[in-house]
Amino acid sequence: MKRGYPESPSASVGPPQSRTKYNPNGDGHFLEDESTKIFARKVADHYSARTNQTLEERENSPIIHLKKLNNWIKSVLIQLYARQGGAVLDLACGKGGDLIKWDKAKIGYYVGVDIAEGSMEDCRTRYNGDADHHQRRNKFTFPARLICGDCYEIHLDKVLADDAPFDICSCQFALHYSWSTEARARRALANISSLLRPGGTLIGTMPDANVIIKKLREAEGLDFGNSVYWIHFDEEFSEKKFKSSKPFGIKYKFHLEDAVDCPEWIVPFHVFKSLAEEYDLELVFAKNSHEFVHEYIKKSEYVDLMRRLGALGDGNQDQSTLSQDEWEVAYLYLAFVLKKRGQPDRTPLNTKRDRGQMHISKEDIMYISSN
Ligand SMILES: C[S@@+](CC[C@H](N)C(=O)[O-])C[C@H]1O[C@@H](n2cnc3c(N)ncnc32)[C@H](O)[C@@H]1O
Repeated sequence: MKRGYPESPSASVGPPQSRTKYNPNGDGHFLEDESTKIFARKVADHYSARTNQTLEERENSPIIHLKKLNNWIKSVLIQLYARQGGAVLDLACGKGGDLIKWDKAKIGYYVGVDIAEGSMEDCRTRYNGDADHHQRRNKFTFPARLICGDCYEIHLDKVLADDAPFDICSCQFALHYSWSTEARARRALANISSLLRPGGTLIGTMPDANVIIKKLREAEGLDFGNSVYWIHFDEEFSEKKFKSSKPFGIKYKFHLEDAVDCPEWIVPFHVFKSLAEEYDLELVFAKNSHEFVHEYIKKSEYVDLMRRLGALGDGNQDQSTLSQDEWEVAYLYLAFVLKKRGQPDRTPLNTKRDRGQMHISKEDIMYISSN
């Protein structure tokens, strides 16, 4: 469902923070221009305009089982890596769809950041327990702060200096929005690295570039998809070849029924891995969603969770299950875990929780302009 949402003053975006070339010997150039701002705004406006769904709308969604499957994947990642009482940075938190998952993990502090004003507002009401939809209305047990801004542009390390260090950073279905330019990708990683404690964890999900490029090459033209999604590449990629010297700014249009309709960017995973290493973030694993499901569904605690979420039916009366087309969309994504270098410390948990609140008013959301 769409809603009208006014553009916020935070739409103004500043000059690039970094112009360092990824491959100094290559022919890549990383101009930050007006289009970068326009695309960041397009993404923000798209997500801002999506309202919370009622339970009925949600259950009638053509991708309801995919949404449940993705929730299962995120829950498994959170259960694997969240530490009780820990401080969480949820980058591109959206409407706060993971708040309940974090609550179950008994975290101690939560900071959510997102560029979409409408989503921030939904996240705020959900956190307060006021949301008029299927989510439960109980209060959460951890204090929280919400920040509205472009987390691939602003220096979050400065904004959140007093809230850091975080034990875990989560960036779900969103890191690829940083890959429009090298400067933004670097800012994303610099923000994450500087805010995580040594030994802290980055968990996330994002499109699997290998799968998308393979599907593009198999397609007759520059479009492919099925009944619930389509992807379109522009003519500039008609040769379907991508220079290793230009790993940023490979844009495509992504449409997922009842969920996404905006520009996205390819993230060549080997480049992500090596760039992350420059920021002291070491890969623990990356697995395509299919592989992830096959691996963790073997574990009894996650089978139970899957049954409760119902992505694959509840095993009893509910025979409804993920369609083949939804399963194909799941294949477009991967899950990843990285660790910040350094000794995993045994020091007491972050004690800055007094910066958060147990009830967030509209005025408590911090709006940050990029310049
Ligand atoms: C697919 S949604 C995922 C939301 C949430 N992480 C989840 O899993 O439910 C992608 C989110 O990324 C956010 N996003 C995109 N670009 C961003 C940016 N530059 N800074 C902060 N958030 C951004 C969008 O506003 C949107 O909420």
